[in-house]
Amino acid sequence: MEEIIEEIKALPLSKNIHPDVNILKSIYRKSLEDSESFWRKIAEDLFWYEKNGPVYEPKETPPYAYWFKQWKTNLSYNALDRHIENWRKNKVAYYWESESGERRTLTYYDLCKEVNRFAYVLKNLGIKKGDRVTIYMPMIPELPIAMLATVRLGAIHSVVFSGFAAHALADRINDCQSKIVITTDGAFRRGRLIDTKGIVDDALNHTKSIEKVLVIKRAGNDVNIMEDRDYWYHELVPSTNPYIEPERVEGIHPSFILYTSGTTGKPKGITHGTGGYMVWAYFTLKTVFGADDKDIFWCTADIGWITGHTYVVYGPLLMGLTSIIYEGAPDYPRPDRWWSIIEDYGVTIFYTSPTAIRMHMKYGEEWIKRHDLSSLRVLGSVGEPINPEVWNWYYKYIGQERTPIVDTWWQTETGGIMISPQPGLALVPLKPGSATLPLPGVDADVFREDGTPAKPGEKGYLVIKKPWPGCLITIWGDNDRFVNSYYRRFPGVYYTGDFAVRDNDGYFWLLGRADEILKVAGHRIGTAELEAAFLSHKAVAEAAVIGKSDPVKMQVPVAFIVLRPGYEPSPQLRMELTKYIKETIGPIATPQTIYFVEKLPKTRSGKIMRRILIAIVENKNIGDITTIEDETSIEEAKRAYEELKTMLS
Ligand code: PRX
Repeated sequence: MEEIIEEIKALPLSKNIHPDVNILKSIYRKSLEDSESFWRKIAEDLFWYEKNGPVYEPKETPPYAYWFKQWKTNLSYNALDRHIENWRKNKVAYYWESESGERRTLTYYDLCKEVNRFAYVLKNLGIKKGDRVTIYMPMIPELPIAMLATVRLGAIHSVVFSGFAAHALADRINDCQSKIVITTDGAFRRGRLIDTKGIVDDALNHTKSIEKVLVIKRAGNDVNIMEDRDYWYHELVPSTNPYIEPERVEGIHPSFILYTSGTTGKPKGITHGTGGYMVWAYFTLKTVFGADDKDIFWCTADIGWITGHTYVVYGPLLMGLTSIIYEGAPDYPRPDRWWSIIEDYGVTIFYTSPTAIRMHMKYGEEWIKRHDLSSLRVLGSVGEPINPEVWNWYYKYIGQERTPIVDTWWQTETGGIMISPQPGLALVPLKPGSATLPLPGVDADVFREDGTPAKPGEKGYLVIKKPWPGCLITIWGDNDRFVNSYYRRFPGVYYTGDFAVRDNDGYFWLLGRADEILKVAGHRIGTAELEAAFLSHKAVAEAAVIGKSDPVKMQVPVAFIVLRPGYEPSPQLRMELTKYIKETIGPIATPQTIYFVEKLPKTRSGKIMRRILIAIVENKNIGDITTIEDETSIEEAKRAYEELKTMLS
């Protein structure tokens, strides 16, 4: 990769453009004009068993390209074995810290041995290439170990965020028909014990595919062990260090499924390949953060989300970095927990979400000032738009006006960062609130409703016009949904579902979702998924869920509910429904408010007019209502809102 950068830097630069913008634009052009040689050179940094055929092969149907189709590799080999063959063998891969302060340090060699031992256990339990393995675990080192062991065997992991409830876990198991679940006895969050194994047991009452459950001892709580189904990991793991030959998989072999919200009630099993994803995770971490062997990298995301997959597990390990895994809540037991971790380990690159930054803004700067944060050299933001006020606070208090902030736009589907400053290549002038320019290989544009390109300053839909290596390969088990979700709206072009605008310098400003997906504390929650959960409760006849702006979490879910005959609105029922949602989807989906109404505003064709509900809760003008079926329903919703406001005040 260095070779490409050097080549470009040697080119004469155009006048009147910032030199770093110049460099970035030249690399960008090269990557789009000659994808084949560009990505081949990047791929050379990684290990491949076979390199047959092209890197980039056009395909007639979405996603319109195969990446490394006939090349063979293994993600776990690249993340581990490759490093233990050189001086990185005894380099620290992970510093792990638990909420209660326990610490573990794993070198690349340690991690490699652990992964082999884990892979040995999985293999003995019958896991082989192509099998699906569901992983439902807190942030302990065994989580990345289980993921790496799975891909070592060529099996496909589906990590389910450990904050999801039993019902949501069961749906995700059923969708991909996994054979095994890996979990822990329990987990800790804010000092509380969470019964992860109990949640798995509940979920398994609603699944048929699971043959075995592998349980890792973490919390020491009593759990139910079902004979011939449940196995303690420590009873199966060998005391020796077996070597498990990595499965040589094709570049397009699925490496993992990660469920995310779409616009229907059913979550989408975003499926990533191996070769393209691997190159993308490696390349984006290098270009965006400019990370190297001197760095201590800390991405605070839970591994249960894509940010954790790519920037806690695969990216850092592929690059041979040292990174931090912290198990607990950011403000536990005190609001300066994160700052003390940065100080203790000398973190140099820190990557988090605007929601977390806003939470710390609320706690105030005193907590930060107690710590020496001078080791930091790059700060990152991900998951939601970062408004200039938050950007400036992050820059001033955490970055101490020294470090650049990389505002990174991307999605579960894109595998890694797509639009962001790229100090690893060249640092363009930053503008607070803008993710700046697309990465090499990302042919981003803003389209109008009719598919024509928007002018600078004109808001439209963000699209990606060319295939890039990190793109999802399908939605597990539903290729039609994959095509319809991403490639139908603007034929042949990847539709992101986000609004954006480009300014006169070509910088991108991301303006939030254009569909009915919420961003709650950076997590993606589909309103349709929540509505389906409400509708499965016996008291609910109709449900409409919308996102209300929130000063910390960006959005919170708010529900308008029509009850079935025989049920009366009451504070008890409201509490019961709230609890029901927590138990069905998980605490992250907890509605902030539930309004009971007698009817919902709908169009003549029966579609719920969420715009009206949003206007009501945001106290905004309702706007165009010419398509509404029954105008009294607006009054109805307004009345319910006013009533509840009075009741709550
Ligand atoms: O709306 C965009 C928002 O998060 C969505 C993707 O969510 P998810 O798949 O959960 O992945 C989150 C982590 C990559 C996008 O469609 N989003 C993500 N990053 C940004 C952002 N919005 C604005 N600025 C960002 N930097």
